[in-house]
Amino acid sequence: MIKIAVLTLSDKGARGERQDESGPAIKAALQGLGEVVHYAMLPDEMGPIKAKLIEYSGKVDLIITTGGTGLSPRDITPEATLAVIERQIPGIAEAMRFESLKKTRRAMLSRAVAGVRCGTLIINMPGSPAAVKEQLEIVYDVLPHAIEKIKGDPSDCARLDEKTG
Ligand code: MTE
Repeated sequence: MIKIAVLTLSDKGARGERQDESGPAIKAALQGLGEVVHYAMLPDEMGPIKAKLIEYSGKVDLIITTGGTGLSPRDITPEATLAVIERQIPGIAEAMRFESLKKTRRAMLSRAVAGVRCGTLIINMPGSPAAVKEQLEIVYDVLPHAIEKIKGDPSDCARLDEKTG
């Protein structure tokens, strides 16, 4: 069973001014793939996002983030993700943008990245519930194979924690 963590990034959500619809949408969409064992909502702040990604890495197979990938000054999810991953998987983000462009021209505005940390696949997705549903459909069938390949080569997590913690 694939273990999944969902991380919603939203200033308004974290302040309790907006209900998180995207986190539950991800949970529902991934039901057939695995179990969501961790869920958190954080404001768009570099330190807390990095810390949560580090905390979940190595504990789950897959982290899906939602929100904070766009162009607003406080959108920082891709930068936080890049700061903690060992290597990128550009093809995942490329596929999400390419396929999403067929639905909305604004898909080009998401700066989402995907990568690996401590044997955990991390994928950024935009904040809207519609966007996460669309993007999960795009990557869904590839996820088991990607996770299997990542698990074949566990890296030195302790050393990485010192570097980025
Ligand atoms: N991708 C898909 N598939 N569907 C969408 O509705 N919305 C876009 C884009 N990617 C969208 C999408 C929009 S309008 C924005 S601004 C960016 O994602 C970034 O969204 P975020 O800032 O909520 O992360």
